[in-house]
Amino acid sequence: MEKRDFSEISDTCKWESPDYEPWFPVSEKSNPLTRDIDKSSPNHIVRLLAACDAQMFQKDTGTTYQRLFSDSVVLTMLEVARTVEQILRDPEDSLVVLSGCGTSGRLAFLMASCFNRALRDRQQNTVYSYIIAGGDRALLTSLEASEDDPKLGMLTLEKLCEGKRRVLFIGISCGLSAPFVAGQLDFCLKHPDIYTPVLVGFNPVTQAREETMPGYSLTFREVVQRMEEQRGQRAFIINPAVGPEAISGSSRMKGGSATKILLETILAAAHTAAFTNTHVTRRVLLDMMRGYERVYSVTYSHSDQIATLLQTAGLSLQCGGRVCYLSWGSLGLVGLIDASECIPTFGADYEDIRGFISGGYQDMDNIEGDLTSLGSQFCIAHEDFVSLVLPTLSDRDTVLLLYTCHDDVGDVEKMVHRVREKTSNLHSLYHGLEGDTAVDSIGLLCSSVLNITWPSSSTVHMQWELSSKLVLNAVSTGSHVLKGKIYRNHMVDLQVTNSKLYHRAIHILQKLSGVSLTQCEEALLKAIYHVEQLPEDITSAGVTTHTLTASRRNRVVPLALVCLLIGCSLSEAESRLESHPVVRDAVEACLTSSQHLTSSAGDQNSTNH
Ligand code: F6P
Repeated sequence: MEKRDFSEISDTCKWESPDYEPWFPVSEKSNPLTRDIDKSSPNHIVRLLAACDAQMFQKDTGTTYQRLFSDSVVLTMLEVARTVEQILRDPEDSLVVLSGCGTSGRLAFLMASCFNRALRDRQQNTVYSYIIAGGDRALLTSLEASEDDPKLGMLTLEKLCEGKRRVLFIGISCGLSAPFVAGQLDFCLKHPDIYTPVLVGFNPVTQAREETMPGYSLTFREVVQRMEEQRGQRAFIINPAVGPEAISGSSRMKGGSATKILLETILAAAHTAAFTNTHVTRRVLLDMMRGYERVYSVTYSHSDQIATLLQTAGLSLQCGGRVCYLSWGSLGLVGLIDASECIPTFGADYEDIRGFISGGYQDMDNIEGDLTSLGSQFCIAHEDFVSLVLPTLSDRDTVLLLYTCHDDVGDVEKMVHRVREKTSNLHSLYHGLEGDTAVDSIGLLCSSVLNITWPSSSTVHMQWELSSKLVLNAVSTGSHVLKGKIYRNHMVDLQVTNSKLYHRAIHILQKLSGVSLTQCEEALLKAIYHVEQLPEDITSAGVTTHTLTASRRNRVVPLALVCLLIGCSLSEAESRLESHPVVRDAVEACLTSSQHLTSSAGDQNSTNH
C-alpha cells in the first residue's frame, strides 16, 4: 500500500483558512498543494494534479464553503433539473441556453450539442442552445476581449431568444466574474416573465467580482445580489467551492470539470425523468455525481501512463515539436477544447498543441458551421491533419489518438498506419466497456497505450469525456510546466487580453516582486506600451485601452517582472529575457541576482554600521 503523504493532506485544506490569501476569491488563489509543481517530475506533476482534482469532491466540513455534495447545492440542482424537466415535457417555444466565456463557453457548446443529440435520437425537437463570447471562432481560439462586454452578452442572448415564451438561461462564470455573463443575468432578471436565470460558478457570492464594468452601472457582485433576492423562485445560483486551481486562475481545469459534472448531472437527470415519466430526485443527482467521482478515481488509477504521455508531450514542446490530438466522436470536442485553451493559458502557438476531429465541422455541429475559410488554425478535420501536418511530422512530434469502442476502429487503424510511416511517437487513449474482447491491434503500433475499461451505462460517453478531459488537461498543463512556462504555480507569461487577466497580471507581479500594487501596475503599463516613462495619456486611459494594446505584444508580464526584480530599464530586461528564453529560468536568474544585490547591499550596510 502506498504511504500517505501527510504534508499533502494538510496542504489540501490550507486554502480554506480565512487567512490564506484573503484578498483573492477561491478561483484566483494559488493552491498550496502545487507551489513546487514547476520543479516536479512528470509522475509527481500527475500526483499533484490528482490531489487538486480530488478537492472537487471533498465533503462539506461545515466551514465557510459549500461543496459539490452540500445539501444547499444539491437542492438548487434539483430545482433547476425540475425546471428543465418541465421544459422537456412542454418544449413549445422554450429554450435552455447555456452561455459563458472561454472554456465556460466551450463547455456550454459541448453540453448543448450533447443533449440536443440525445433529443434527436428520441425524435424530439431540440431545446438547447449555446452562446460563447466572441462567437464560434472562440470555440477554437482565444478571443478574450469579448468577455469584458456586458451589453454584447445581453444583446446576443436577446437575439437568440427572440419569439420564445420561456427561457432557462444558464450562465457559467467559474470566477463569478465575466461581465459578458453578468449582462445576460441582469437582462434575465429584468424580464422574469420569460427568463429564469441560473448562475454556475465556484466562488461564494461574497467573492463575486466587484470591479465596475465598462458602460454598465452594475458590478458582477451587484447582479448576484439581485439574483439572491429572487433565489429559489425566479433565480438560481449553483456555486460550490472546488478549491484553487493547480495553476493559479486556470479555471479550464477544475472549474471546467466541475461545470461539466454539475450541468450534465442536472440535464441527464431531467432527461431521464421527462422520458420515463418520473421526477428528478435528490438521490438520482447524488448517484450521478458519485459516478463522476468514480471517473476521477478510475482515471487517476492510470497515473503512470498519464505521466508517460505528459513527459513525451513535454519533450516535444521543449524541442520545438508539436503535440497533436487525433480524436473520434465526442472526444474530438474534448481534444479541440483542451488544445485551444493552450493559446491563452500558456501563450502557446496554435500549432504547439492542436486538436483534430474525425468528421471536422460535420461532427462539431456548431451554429456558424464550417470555419475553415478563416485560416489554417480553423482546419480541424482529420483530412486537414493529413494535408497540413502529416507531411512534416517527425519523431519530435507527439501524436495522441483518442477513441472509444463506439468508434470506427477500422478508421482509427488506417490513420495509425499513416502516422506510423512518419513517426513512432504515437500514443493512444482508449475507452472500452467491461466484457469488451476486441484484439488490440492499434495498441501494438503505439509507443504507449492508456486503456480504460468502464461498466456500461446510459451516460458512459459523458464519463469518457470527463476522463479524457482530465488526461488531456494533465498532458497540456504538465507539458507546459516541463517546458518551463510556469514559475511556482503561476503562469507568468500570461496574455493580458481582458480586465480579469490585467488584474491577475498585476497580482502575480506583486506576489513575485514584493513591491506595491501601484508600482506593479506602472511596470506592467511600461511593458505594454514599451516606454521607460509613463505619459499622462497612458495613465489616464482605461483598462480596455491597455488590454487592446497588450494583445499586440508578447511577454509583457515577464518584462515587467524583470524590471521590478532588478530595477532595470525595459531594454535591459529584454536582453535578459533573450538570454533566458525559458520564463522560469529568467525569473529564477533575476531572483538570484536581486537577492545577491540585496545581500551585498545588506553587507555594505552592516559594514557601514
Ligand atoms: O479570460 C480568460 C479566462 O480565464 C479563460 O481562460 C476562461 O476560460 C474564461 O476566462 C472564463 O472564465 P470564467 O468562467 O471565470 O468566466
